[in-house]
Amino acid sequence: MIPCQKHLFNIPEDITYLNCAYLSPQLRSVSEAGHTGVAAKEQPWQIIAQDFFIQTEQTRRLFAEMIDAQPDDIAIIPAVSYGIAVAALNIKLSAGDAILILEDQFPSNVYSWREAAKETGAIVKTVSRPEEEDWTRALLDHIDENTAVVAVPNCHWTDGGLIDLVKIAHRCRKMGAALVVDATQSIGALPFSVAEVQPDFLVTASYKWLFGPYSLGFLYVHPRYQDGKPLEHGWIARKNSEDFAGLVNYQNEFQPGARRFDVGERSNFALMPMVLAALQQILDWQVTEIGATLSAMTNRIAERAAELGLKVSPAHLRGPHLMGLRFPEGVPADLVERLLQNKIYVSVRGHSIRISPHLYNTPNDIDKFLETLASG
Ligand SMILES: Cc1ncc(COP(=O)(O)O)c(C=O)c1O
Repeated sequence: MIPCQKHLFNIPEDITYLNCAYLSPQLRSVSEAGHTGVAAKEQPWQIIAQDFFIQTEQTRRLFAEMIDAQPDDIAIIPAVSYGIAVAALNIKLSAGDAILILEDQFPSNVYSWREAAKETGAIVKTVSRPEEEDWTRALLDHIDENTAVVAVPNCHWTDGGLIDLVKIAHRCRKMGAALVVDATQSIGALPFSVAEVQPDFLVTASYKWLFGPYSLGFLYVHPRYQDGKPLEHGWIARKNSEDFAGLVNYQNEFQPGARRFDVGERSNFALMPMVLAALQQILDWQVTEIGATLSAMTNRIAERAAELGLKVSPAHLRGPHLMGLRFPEGVPADLVERLLQNKIYVSVRGHSIRISPHLYNTPNDIDKFLETLASG
């Protein structure tokens, strides 16, 4: 178990922030790295050609380490929608093919598939939320020989519902379907191994569980797609882009691996040092330890919520870091008011309150939330 890390953040004593799934609070170390990065361009004569590559490559390496992949398999992207668009552009679809998504899935992993379906005659099929909350079972029941793509999260963004991707990937391989994962609500808090799951594409934003800045994320691309088509064609993704004097010796070849899919101007001098500092901190804490520490918090909340008559998924069907408390009659308006009055921050999603703590939360934060919940 990791002891409370609140000292590494700038969170006032009276704030109870249980909403990491919305935006993680920035680590002080990440802010510092960003300040240094912003200031760097005050003196551009100090920025040399190598600076366009060094931190980007370090970041690629750390993210690859976190998901048990190779640095060559990682592209730098600005948003999940960008990564999903790359996947949709590179997976071949034909009329009648099925693309499977989940009910209420995050829209950045929906719209590109709708567009791809419109262009090819494929069909987007939505797996309904199962009564007993077992998404894995429900999804397995829908993957058949017509399935061309399974585009799903690892953990449902509304309530932390888990999808067992090892089982899903196994079925996808058997049926010849591609697996595309939006891991934004899990990587950093839930261990993930690309070597074990073997997805075709995996996408994540960094501004939630990776403690990175907004507008910088990652795309894992399986080697079989690494000679695919990028969304855009910038100079840095091409072979020999390190040679600034020779950039107009236009190249047909790309940089190795998944680098061809990097977004233009990916060597962002302010954001890249921030995400690098954030990844270093997470690897230092260790993802398995983070998950174990957060599950102690969410399990305590789940127990008390069940006593109060709220519906919570069993621990084995939800992430250790993210949970939904379901109010059968809807979330009481006065509860939302009381939470705000007590400076307790959570998200309301339909009939649920979404709770997502992190290492800056204290036992007192959890008590305060539970007291407010019970005081209706
Ligand atoms: C599951 C999931 N995917 C993606 C995003 C963000 O998408 P984008 O980077 O396209 O803005 C969010 C934000 O809440 C999310 O919860």
